[in-house]
Parts: sequence; C-alpha cells; structure tokens
Amino acid sequence: MGLVVAGALLHDIGRSVDHSIMHAYIGSKIAERLGLPVELVEIIRKHTGAGLDAEDVEELGLPPGDYMPSTLEEKIVAHADNMVSDNRVVSHEHSVNKLVFKGAFRGAERIEILHMELSDLYGEDLDSIVDRLGEYPRLKCVPDEEEC
Ligand SMILES: [Fe+2]
Repeated sequence: MGLVVAGALLHDIGRSVDHSIMHAYIGSKIAERLGLPVELVEIIRKHTGAGLDAEDVEELGLPPGDYMPSTLEEKIVAHADNMVSDNRVVSHEHSVNKLVFKGAFRGAERIEILHMELSDLYGEDLDSIVDRLGEYPRLKCVPDEEEC
C-alpha cells in the first residue's frame, strides 16, 4: 500500500522537467538520482497508459527499456492515472478514447485489458468508482463559497 501511495504521489515527478511522454522516463531518472527504491522508480517509468511496448518505445523515441507495468503496484498506479483527468475521476473509457483518437489502438487495447484484469481482482468493474464518487472534487469549486 505504501508503494502504491508513493507511486501515486510521485509518478508525474518528471513533469517538473517535461510534459511529453518522456516525462515518465525523466521521472524515473529523477527518482533514481534521489535514491528512491527501485520499485518506485519502476512505477514511475511504467505509468503511462497501460504501459508502452517495444514498438511504442521505438516509435516514440524513448530510451530503450521496459515500460510495461508488470507488478500489481505498477498496474494500479498506471490504471488509477488512466481514470483521472485533470482533477476528475473518470471512466477508463476516457483514456481509451484519447488513445483511439490519436490512432494508438494497441495502447487503447492494453488499457481495456488492464481494466478488465484489475476489475476482476477488485471484484467489481472499476468504473463503478466513478458512479460512487461522482465528479470529485467539483471542478468549479470556489473556496469562499459554501458548496465547497
Ligand atoms: Fe504521467
């Protein structure tokens, strides 16, 4: 659990340098340099979509390496990220549709497969979380207003 929480907090640390797909690799290098545990470094490098396969890595010009989440913690952080858009919890379809729109069909399929795998482990379709939470937190929240 601690590893998942740390991964959730730090997976985008590379965005402090770069907002492209490279942020995952850069983030893993930052984490390495900080002496963070290798398990956390791996979560950071493998968190984009449901991972990147060797073909993606070459097409995207990323440094060679393993970008596919394989441990449960790596998969949870990657997929939780797939179910958040800005500050909203969203259905996994949101990330699938974004990749389909970009023509990244293999990546979209991988998200579907990861969603099914983790939903099976959870015992319920993870999209049910969206219904349970609703739009959380509210987008147009103004701190001085009572509705916050
Ligand atoms: Fe990211």
